[in-house]
Amino acid sequence: MNTFGKLFRITTFGESHGSGIGCVIDGMPAGIFIDLEFIQEELNRRKGGQNTYATQRKEEDRIQILSGVFEGYSTGMPIGIFIENNNTKSKDYDGIKDLFRPGHGDFTYFHKYGIRDYRGGGRSSARESVARVASGAFAKLILREFNIETKSGILQIGEIQAQKIDFANARKSEIFSLDKDVENLQKEIIINTKKSHDSIGGVALISAFNIPIGLGEPLYYKLDSAIGELMLGLNGVKAVEIGDGINSAKSLGSSNNDQIRKSGFTSNHSGGILGGISNGEQINIKVYFKPTPSIFKPQKTIDENKNEVDLMLKGRHDPCIAIRGSVVAESLLAIILADMLLLNMVSKIEHLKKIYK
Ligand SMILES: Cc1cc2nc3c(=O)[nH]c(=O)nc-3n(C[C@H](O)[C@H](O)[C@H](O)COP(=O)(O)O)c2cc1C
Repeated sequence: MNTFGKLFRITTFGESHGSGIGCVIDGMPAGIFIDLEFIQEELNRRKGGQNTYATQRKEEDRIQILSGVFEGYSTGMPIGIFIENNNTKSKDYDGIKDLFRPGHGDFTYFHKYGIRDYRGGGRSSARESVARVASGAFAKLILREFNIETKSGILQIGEIQAQKIDFANARKSEIFSLDKDVENLQKEIIINTKKSHDSIGGVALISAFNIPIGLGEPLYYKLDSAIGELMLGLNGVKAVEIGDGINSAKSLGSSNNDQIRKSGFTSNHSGGILGGISNGEQINIKVYFKPTPSIFKPQKTIDENKNEVDLMLKGRHDPCIAIRGSVVAESLLAIILADMLLLNMVSKIEHLKKIYK
């Protein structure tokens, strides 16, 4: 179960401290210029080791394209991608080889499989998400052909919430904050949390612009359900909201319905999706991340033989996973939108006729 998508389909492989992380992308249409500089920029946005607000694991994240590209263009064949792991410190994990970190996947992976690669969390590590960002970059190359754009940023760190949405600020902020006026407070809370050997949760906003009407499949692959599945499949994500999300459960139909005029919708409570299908408005999604499970405070756990142990972790960890997670979530939205675009080839006979005329 390492695959997502129907036509634009990604399959990832690899572990945190194995030789690297890879991905196979099926469904990349032929003839698209593979902009390597852009793909590398996308990977750089997710990279750790760049400031105090992220893990100090410093990987180069140089992408190797193994197949599916010839003379700079996609060939329509499967795209094979590999990204090496070069900055592993597996010794940091010797002390927990038979212990389960509270809040992490160690306990459940061990009980399900009877074996686990404990080094850096193995496959349960978000190191895997580098493949999602790489595939998301390829998806964005498809979206670009239609001027569709995705953006992301941090709405909230702990209790400190953005009061305005400024994607340009998020792009240059070290913590991808959407609001310059609260950015320093958000940074401060991360620094203080780190000083107290703890971690903190956060919320990311992911938006998509210039969306055509009609992306999404009724009823079992709705745009909403694909977003829910892929976002909730990202490590540490505990809730996803579309448009007004949970607030719409507190409101009246008369205020929640987006009124329709000749010029378009007069509001966007729906987050750009109606009946599982994009309505042409901006898509807005909130992604809620829990605090990083690996913290440097004493914790209570057990070992594989159920002996109770006092745990003190070592290693390099993100103090707030929402920050780098926001970039991954944006890539995931791009993957879904690319898949939905391709699926529309079969939505109307005219589309097929255009191909075979
Ligand atoms: C971008 C990103 C970075 C993460 N970094 C860390 C980390 O440094 N340390 C850690 O313990 N968990 C980290 N996580 C979270 C764990 O991978 C995740 O909590 C764990 O796999 C358990 O899965 P669950 O939280 O979905 O139950 C990160 C998640 C993301 C998305």
